[in-house]
Amino acid sequence: MKENDTSVDAIHEIANAFKRSQILFAAHAAGLFDFLAKEKAEPAIAAAMGWSPRGTRFVLRALAAMGLVTARGARWRNAPAAAACLQSGAPEDQGAFLRHTRRGWDDWVRLEACLRGEGAKRGRHRAGSEAERDYVRAMHAIAVRNAPRCAPLVDCSGRRRLLDLGCGMGAYAAAFLEAWPSLRAVLVDTRAVLAMAREYLAARGVADRCEFVAGDARRVEMPAGLDIIWISNVLHAWYPEECRACIARCFAALRPGGMLYIRDFLDDEVPEAAAFHPVFGLDMMLHSEGGGCYTAAEVAAWTRAAGFKHGRLLHAGRKSRIWTARKP
Ligand SMILES: C[S@@+](CC[C@H](N)C(=O)[O-])C[C@H]1O[C@@H](n2cnc3c(N)ncnc32)[C@H](O)[C@@H]1O
Repeated sequence: MKENDTSVDAIHEIANAFKRSQILFAAHAAGLFDFLAKEKAEPAIAAAMGWSPRGTRFVLRALAAMGLVTARGARWRNAPAAAACLQSGAPEDQGAFLRHTRRGWDDWVRLEACLRGEGAKRGRHRAGSEAERDYVRAMHAIAVRNAPRCAPLVDCSGRRRLLDLGCGMGAYAAAFLEAWPSLRAVLVDTRAVLAMAREYLAARGVADRCEFVAGDARRVEMPAGLDIIWISNVLHAWYPEECRACIARCFAALRPGGMLYIRDFLDDEVPEAAAFHPVFGLDMMLHSEGGGCYTAAEVAAWTRAAGFKHGRLLHAGRKSRIWTARKP
């Protein structure tokens, strides 16, 4: 084998990666994984999807190679991973995540324009749109998996009032409220997102301990006398100056001894995070106005400048970290 073969293969692999995504998006959008909840013959699959027989065959074989469907002769059904994550209503249904990620495609084709600063940024989803709802549901599907891991890292003993800034559907607030029965929470997000949060928190049985504040999280008035402020995966959508100003406002709103927790992709050093961090930074630059991906050092500098005591970095999953800082 020539020495360059490995490099050539690796480069081809990177260049071709988008094709697998498109096969998955197309299959999911057509409802293939719902159809294959039960074993089906190939011609029936083609007919139900409205696809050509040849195309259907290629898609099914490609999905089989990805481990998402299995064949018994010419009959196909979902593999366990697809049954668990790609069928509508499955416990780990990633449908909203796929629709949200697929919409990101339109942003990514403008990458070069964005790099040249040619107005490639799109801004936020239209409030209350299906795209925004998918985005919020996609983030929520991730949050419900992570919240039980984060709750023990946030010590709320003796604390009465927590603010969750940019709460999404409130998976983290729900986890804190369940763990600490005397805690109350203030949830801040846009009006449309808070409507989704209210529904979710009511279903979790904690809505009566929640206050909802709708508005722009960079500007809304924070109630004074807070014990804890939790900000998860929000700052990466903002310009650095907005993050700095927000942290200064958090400092003013916390009681002495109050704690600020900033959960984000703050680590750009461990290998897995190092690969993810810059790609996510570009993702944010492409589809949010001021977005990026900040490091723990940047966040630490903002909390220090605001007056917080030097904080600590906690591990909160494979790529996420929590920066904690205390108001003296
Ligand atoms: C990536 S989601 C994170 C949701 C949740 N905190 C989590 O970690 O799963 C970001 C959330 O912040 C909200 N958000 C971002 N910028 C905002 C702003 N300027 N005003 C109000 N909400 C904002 C979004 O609406 C969204 O619900």
